[in-house]
Amino acid sequence: MEKPERLIDENGRRVDGRRFDELRPIKMEIGILDKSDGSAYVEFGGTKVIAAVFGPREAHPRHLALPDRAILNCRYHMTSFSVEERKPLGMTRREVELSKVIREALETVTFLEEFPRASIDVYIEVIQADGGTRTTGLTAASLALADAGIPMADLVAAVAVGKVDGQLVLDLCDVEDKYGEADMPVAMAPRFNSIVLLQLNGRMTPEEFRKGLALAQKGVSEIYRLQREALKKKFSSVPPMES
Ligand code: CDP
Repeated sequence: MEKPERLIDENGRRVDGRRFDELRPIKMEIGILDKSDGSAYVEFGGTKVIAAVFGPREAHPRHLALPDRAILNCRYHMTSFSVEERKPLGMTRREVELSKVIREALETVTFLEEFPRASIDVYIEVIQADGGTRTTGLTAASLALADAGIPMADLVAAVAVGKVDGQLVLDLCDVEDKYGEADMPVAMAPRFNSIVLLQLNGRMTPEEFRKGLALAQKGVSEIYRLQREALKKKFSSVPPMES
């Protein structure tokens, strides 16, 4: 999409009509796949992501197994139809980097030491990208881990904040990400109020950074509420007994 004349109009509305502190419409669903041990679908506006988890299972190849904990493998991947421009088929440098930072964030909350010599494999497939795919991917991956019954200290809830037309905004869409002045993805383990991923692309003053972080925290607490709701939806109802 071309650069719009303005990213915020005279009424303070953003390109998609949101106020500065509004999240996009969010959908979350757990257990959407049959073949994996855990799965989740998460949508933030036009960004649509599926996460699937296998494990804990015996690590392969065996020589990579660790004697005192499980290995967490993580692959973030964008499908070739997720973006307008042709996306190379294999893993790009960006996807390798994002797989690493997502893995590191998930490692902080997962009790890997409970499964020595095992591996837990997390697959994140971006099926449509419209900004915030790493944060949506992380949010989906932690739900898929929970769905697989992997013990965790907390879920990970994530959202980006940024600066567009000089103003701080929550949950950037693609146009805001591309043409804005700054983009700061933040992922948290909300129960501990701890930050498990924070990146900054662009520039912010220390004051903007503080305000941006507070804005991200506000978004994270709403995302966390929706995650717990999605988990309850699946696990609080008991399937009917077979006769
Ligand atoms: O998606 P996220 O904001 O976590 O990462 P990014 O590298 O800042 O990418 C921002 C957005 O650029 C993505 O969400 C996509 O909408 C878009 N993008 C794209 O159109 N083509 C790519 N090969 C990579 C990203």
